[in-house]
Amino acid sequence: MSILFEKKVLALETSCDETAVAILKGFGGVLFHSILSQADVHAQYGGVVPEVASRSHLEVLPSLVQKALQTIPMDEIDLYAATVGPGLASALMVGAYFAQAMALGVGKPFAAVNHIEGHLLSPFFGQENVPPHIALIVSGGHTLLLDVHGVGDYVLLGKTQDDAAGEAFDKVAKFLGLPYPGGVQIDALAKQGNPALYSFPRSMLHSGDLNFSFSGLKTAIRVFLKQDNQRAALPDLCASFQEAIVDVLTAKTLRAALACSRTLIAVSGGVSSNSRLQTKLADACLAKGIALRFAESALRTDNALMIAFAAIQRINAGLRTPNEIMPNLELESLCKIR
Ligand code: KG4
Ligand code: ZN
Repeated sequence: MSILFEKKVLALETSCDETAVAILKGFGGVLFHSILSQADVHAQYGGVVPEVASRSHLEVLPSLVQKALQTIPMDEIDLYAATVGPGLASALMVGAYFAQAMALGVGKPFAAVNHIEGHLLSPFFGQENVPPHIALIVSGGHTLLLDVHGVGDYVLLGKTQDDAAGEAFDKVAKFLGLPYPGGVQIDALAKQGNPALYSFPRSMLHSGDLNFSFSGLKTAIRVFLKQDNQRAALPDLCASFQEAIVDVLTAKTLRAALACSRTLIAVSGGVSSNSRLQTKLADACLAKGIALRFAESALRTDNALMIAFAAIQRINAGLRTPNEIMPNLELESLCKIR
């Protein structure tokens, strides 16, 4: 058994609007897990305001860490980890410097973690082995398709050329007068609507590659709303918009699995909670004999357990990470991209 099963990692995640702290033992022993969402604070502005985010992180992080260390004393922590990018620069700094300072203060190692790799590995939380698979990462900031050979060994197959899937959900929700973050509201309203009533664009569905584009869809909804004298019902609009996003995500993910001869698809990030995406992907995978897994629901939106898990997985794979904070960090720069 790997010596890492006994290691305790204290991880911080402050890349956007969640202040999260976790202590993980080995690959799946949850000793502490807490997420404070700032969504209510940012809702009044209709989106995340970086300065407000970093100030809120600063306000709550010390007491949250203190609470974690009341559960597991500091002298039992073997490793400190934090998200160093991608994310909002001023927000990343709070968690990353805090974790680095703790590590330095007690002479323990610090592991810098790429937020996207945190999401990417989250469906395998709790296990040492990460099997080869196709990864679809769909969050508020990212939409990526990767062929995963193993930890730190990824082939980038496609990504969004403009808005991320979650960003499209949130922006369209704003047009529709729904509160931020809008993905959950659209998902709920869509359940009572007709997904086939309006035919919104499935951008890049037939582009011949595995990239995505969602800004055209967003514009199409905006134009539709301006011209809509009939006052379309909100559930029908939500269902039809959601169907357009889900159709493209499902089709391209399946295409990626077939092209790479993978028999497993793993989906992560906040948008992986979308009920229609889950159903459509499940149906498509069943038809092709492909296994499908999602991160457990608490690990889909931003959290520190996935950061601790990614740190342990990278150490297990013998990979090192740079220490600086990199707001524009791409997955490529921390991982071996073939
Ligand atoms: O992974 P995450 O916390 O963000 C980033 O790392 O960027 O995901 C947040 C995103 C938001 O855009 C939110 O609207 C979306 O996930 N989201 C959903 C659902 N739940 C969360 N989108 C669609 N359907 C949902 N059920
Ligand atoms: Zn995220």
